[in-house]
Amino acid sequence: MCKIVLVGYMGAGKSSIGKTLAQKLKLDFLDLDDLIVEQTGKTIREIFEKEGEIYFRKLEHTILKAQLLKKESFVLSLGGGTPCYAGNHLLLQEDNVLSIYLKASIQLLVDRLIVESHKRPLIANLKKEEMIEFIAKHLFDRNYYYNSCKKIVSVDNKTIDEICEE
Ligand code: S3P
Repeated sequence: MCKIVLVGYMGAGKSSIGKTLAQKLKLDFLDLDDLIVEQTGKTIREIFEKEGEIYFRKLEHTILKAQLLKKESFVLSLGGGTPCYAGNHLLLQEDNVLSIYLKASIQLLVDRLIVESHKRPLIANLKKEEMIEFIAKHLFDRNYYYNSCKKIVSVDNKTIDEICEE
């Protein structure tokens, strides 16, 4: 059994890389945010706005735990904050899980996120300078969890194929 779990900040490319990696390995691809949307019938933004972040984090934890208990192989991309809440980083240490941190520079993240921030409740409405400051601080807080992954792959200046190969 092979459970590959992709970790990384918003905009690091977890979903695009995950889809290609799953194709190459002939595994199913799953995205934790998509599982949450499917199971609740609400968008991530709606959940944040109507129920609040704590509710979202509980949901995220429950759905991740259930998915990791399944006796099947897959590539799963997490939300940017998933490993940092509810002890989720410990679930990623299990023997049958290969957790991979897709590490991106602040510059790359800002360049990608500035054009699609409306999709992400945590950074919606931030201007470029505010976003740089927000991401830098957020990464500082989250690095401990990201760096506890079993493997770290830098994504700057690489194609999706090169990243999958690594
Ligand atoms: C979040 C990242 C988002 C989504 C939610 C919270 C975060 O996922 O789970 O908006 O805390 O970093 P992506 O990393 O797929 O954008």
